[in-house]
Amino acid sequence: MYIENLKFQNFRNLRDGCINPCEGINVIYGNNAHGKTNILEALWLFCGGHSFRASRENEFIKFGEKFSKLKVKFFSQEREQEAELVFSGSRRDVIINGVRKSSSSALIGKYNAVIFSPDDLTLVKRGPSSRRRFIDSAICREKFQNAVLLAKYNQTLNQRNALLKDIYHHSELKKTLEIWDDTLCEFGSSIILQRLSYIEKLSQSACDYHLGISDNTEELKISYISTCDAVYGENKKKIFQKMRDRLNESREEDFRSGYTNVGPHRDDFDILINGRKAKIFASQGQQRSSVLSLKLAEARVLSELTGENPVILLDDVLSELDRKRQDFLLNKIKGYQVFITCCDFEINNLLREGKKFLIQNGEVK
Ligand SMILES: Nc1ncnc2c1ncn2[C@@H]1O[C@H](COP(=O)(O)OP(=O)(O)O)[C@@H](O)[C@H]1O
Ligand SMILES: [Mg+2]
Repeated sequence: MYIENLKFQNFRNLRDGCINPCEGINVIYGNNAHGKTNILEALWLFCGGHSFRASRENEFIKFGEKFSKLKVKFFSQEREQEAELVFSGSRRDVIINGVRKSSSSALIGKYNAVIFSPDDLTLVKRGPSSRRRFIDSAICREKFQNAVLLAKYNQTLNQRNALLKDIYHHSELKKTLEIWDDTLCEFGSSIILQRLSYIEKLSQSACDYHLGISDNTEELKISYISTCDAVYGENKKKIFQKMRDRLNESREEDFRSGYTNVGPHRDDFDILINGRKAKIFASQGQQRSSVLSLKLAEARVLSELTGENPVILLDDVLSELDRKRQDFLLNKIKGYQVFITCCDFEINNLLREGKKFLIQNGEVK
């Protein structure tokens, strides 16, 4: 897919206007805090999920205004399509091809993008929650139902945890804990199944990229770490049973800690380079390369799933990579529509082809 036009009104610091990108590489450049990332964020929001940085919907609305509107024209599924997002208060309205939808998740499958920012470069090193966010955001883009599944799981988990806290003071409630366990395992095992299958695809593709970036010296593998010992290839029933058993085993620990200790909310994944954990053994350069492979793999998996190349959004990431990795990345994203933000002085180092947009005080020049 590719974006033909993006219009914005009252969106963050952007002066009302539009951009008409090309199908190849689009460079958005300018000084800091002038609105470059805001443009990428606007493009990203049509993917249907949350922003990669905002926590609340009303943060998008330009200070002092009451609503904010974004409109995109894009080519996907062999036709031109249109989508509009309107933010007002904490409300988000979505109109796709002239039809009002109840949620922007209706764009899943039609409109796809992958975002890569400097923050992602530390994905290997950071705590497990950032990696869980990475997989969950990916599986939600695979299927809208996965977002529903995650919401239901979290709701059940919160109820179970609330009960565990009550049990801490009222041990007679212990017997009632079980009522949550089947529901938790039902949703939990489905999530694990989806994540395992995603990680399997991601791992194969990331391995290919990584061989390329390491001159065939490093074999990369992504390995899911399940607190319920679930592994790829097992069916839902088997994973359900394993989770149920592990939940029973950790019951006493749950009582003591007032918290549910096993389940997908505690899972993680490891990135292995030549069989060794990158988190522990890899150099900073190797860690960055492996995230680069991971991100490229994310785009490829999405493209295989939907039959459309996602748009690639690179937020300030080029300057964080050395020349060799920059060239590798730019070479591998040929064939995708790309939006790259960078500071003024970097512009000459980037590709001469494509289109350039200067952003000054929120205005696209
Ligand atoms: N809701 C908003 N209304 C007006 N300005 C905003 C809003 N949210 C963020 N900004 C401003 O947008 C600017 C940051 O834009 P950003 O796209 O992050 O810049 P950069 O060009 O460095 O990527 C800041 O000056 C910030 O104050
Ligand atoms: Mg920025």
